[in-house]
Formats: sequence, C-alpha cells, structure tokens
Amino acid sequence: MTTVLVTGVAGFIGSNLAQALLNRNYRVIGIDNLSQGYRRNIAAFSDHPSFEFHAIDVRDGPLLDPLAARADVIIHLAAFKIPRYGHALDTLQVNTHGMRNILTTAAKNGTRVVFASTSDVYGRNPDLPFHEGSDLWMGPSTVKRWAYAVSKIFDEHLCFAFQEEAALPVTILRLFGGYGPNQNLTWWGGPQSVFITAALRGEPMEIHGNGRQTRSFTYVSDIVEGIIRCTEDKHAVGEVFNIGSTEEIAIIDLASLIWELAGKGEPRFTMVSYRTFGKYEDVVRRIPDPGKAQRLLGFAPDVRLRDGLQKTIAWQRKLLAEDPAAAGGGE
Ligand SMILES: NC(=O)c1ccc[n+]([C@@H]2O[C@H](COP(=O)([O-])OP(=O)(O)OC[C@H]3O[C@@H](n4cnc5c(N)ncnc54)[C@H](O)[C@@H]3O)[C@@H](O)[C@H]2O)c1
Repeated sequence: MTTVLVTGVAGFIGSNLAQALLNRNYRVIGIDNLSQGYRRNIAAFSDHPSFEFHAIDVRDGPLLDPLAARADVIIHLAAFKIPRYGHALDTLQVNTHGMRNILTTAAKNGTRVVFASTSDVYGRNPDLPFHEGSDLWMGPSTVKRWAYAVSKIFDEHLCFAFQEEAALPVTILRLFGGYGPNQNLTWWGGPQSVFITAALRGEPMEIHGNGRQTRSFTYVSDIVEGIIRCTEDKHAVGEVFNIGSTEEIAIIDLASLIWELAGKGEPRFTMVSYRTFGKYEDVVRRIPDPGKAQRLLGFAPDVRLRDGLQKTIAWQRKLLAEDPAAAGGGE
C-alpha cells in the first residue's frame, strides 16, 4: 500500500484529496496546524484505518522527519494565501520555511514531492492563456498581495534546486481557482464561497473592484484528479503543470450566476474599491492553457461551472443550516 503524506490536510483541497486517496486504497498521513483548516473537514474519514492525523506545523522540521520517513510521496499543500486583509508575514514565512522543511526532510530518503503552486505566479502577464513556460510578471514589492505569488515562485525554484542538487523527484502544480465542498467560507476560500452565503441569506454580494476581472474556476474533484494523476504518473517528475478549467467568467457574472442558482428576486451588489485593502492590485484575466497536462497525463478538467456550483451550493446550504457561524467573519 502506497503511503502519502499530505500537508494542509484539514484545508479545502487537502481534505478532498485525502478522501479520494483513501477511496483508492492509499494510506494517508495528514498534517495540519489548523490555522486555516477545520476538523470538520476530516471528520468523515478521521477513523479510517488507513488515515492518521498529526496537528503539527510544517515550520517544525524535527516533527516532520519521522512522518516523512514513512511516506512514499509527499503532497505539500499547507500554505498561507494572498494577504488581502493582512498576514503577509505568515504568507512569506509559512510558504518558504514550510517548503524548505518539506524538501529537506524528503531529501533524506529521496521521497518524491508534489507541490501545490498557484496560477497567481503568472501575475500581470497579459498574454493569455497562460502556459507553463509563460513569463511570471510580478507587481511592485510595495503591494503586499504579490507576497503570495513571490513565495510560491521561490518555492518552485527551491523544488528544482533540490531536484538538481539532491536528486529529489519533484512535480509542481499551478492550481487555478478551486471551489467545492469543504471550501473556506470567508474570502480565504475565494469569492464564490462568500457569494453563495450572501445569496442563501438574501444579502448583497460584495464585488471587489469593478467585477470585470475574470477567473477560471475549477471544481475540486477536477483539482484532486489532477493532483493524483501527477502523483501517479512518472512522466510528471521534473515538470510544471497547469491544473485548471478554461471556463472563464467575470467575477460579477459569477455573482449573478450564483444568485440565479441560490438567491431569490433580483441580485444586489455592493461595490468595494480595491483602495479598501490599502495598496492593492488584482489580476485582470486568468485562464490556463491545459494542453500540457492533457498531452503528458491525459488529464483535463470536465466539471462545468454551473454543475459544480450547484453541488457546492447544496453543500454550503447544509453546512450553514447546521452551523450558521461557519460563514465566519473577515478572513
Ligand atoms: N484553492 C485554490 O483555489 C488554490 C489555488 C491555487 C493554489 N492553491 C494552493 O493549494 C494549497 C491548498 O489550498 P486550499 O485552498 O486547500 O487552502 P486551505 O487554506 O483551505 O488549506 C491549507 C491548509 O494548510 C494549513 N496550514 C497553513 N499553515 C500551516 C502550517 N504552518 N503548518 C501546517 N498546516 C498549515 C491550514 O490550516 C489549512 O488547513 C495551498 O498551497 C494553496 O496555495 C489553492
């Protein structure tokens, strides 16, 4: 039985991934410090005989070593995201120290590492769609939102440096806008989760900027399938892959669609200027070129946005009925 160490297992993608791995007869060692994750996300399989959970911090190297030594592969998801409302230091430190510790411990046993990077690394690049060889265009350091992309770019370089100098097999996945069950209901989980709560409650939906910025949202089962393909296929070693849907939608249209699926009457929007977040910049358009994952791994996302949103809304409706406080406050 193959043993997979999943960091960030109590988070959105980690919990869905762990469930899928257990369904496929993997043994899963899950790590999370529960800073942004929830025990409720792993409750469905916490008693599974092939699952174990360790509430530890990826910045704590000595605690990682004995767990990593038992793993055949490490899937590294634990991270902090775009510091829209703060946490820039956490983003930089968790993402870089955590990655260094994972690679250092993996190198002791030559354990394969699959790392979740982000579509945000393409930054302001205006040439769409983004393919894995596209330039990574960052904005100025005075705009703290870039801390996330910069930390992930550093992590990608660290992976390749360990591959070259410690013969460590690594794979880098650039994930595009995940959504689905177990998503975080605050802005941490992305606009769709906040829009769904607003629509279910009949409250105005908060649109950041003018709402014309686009994203390509990817249902979590597609993200999980992409991660597992990259983990299982030896052709993925040493490669970077976009994992994302090509169904592009403007944020304001996403809000309208969610209202149509979950709200009542006419949608209401509250426009929130980017100035609210201090010196902030957003990415105007974001679409992946999915061709490389298709060619090398035979992988392409196949859940349509409308279908994925319906499943997500059903999940979120049930969670909020059981626990209205799950919607949380800010981020
Ligand atoms: N969800 C997306 O759309 C998306 C898009 C691009 C990239 N990614 C990347 O995928 C990964 C997973 O994203 P997610 O959406 O599931 O995020 P998430 O915040 O739901 O999950 C991350 C988990 O990591 C844990 N964590 C954070 N710091 C930790 C630390 N120091 N030690 C141990 N655990 C820690 C959190 O508690 C959380 O449970 C992240 O690396 C993220 O950058 C996600």
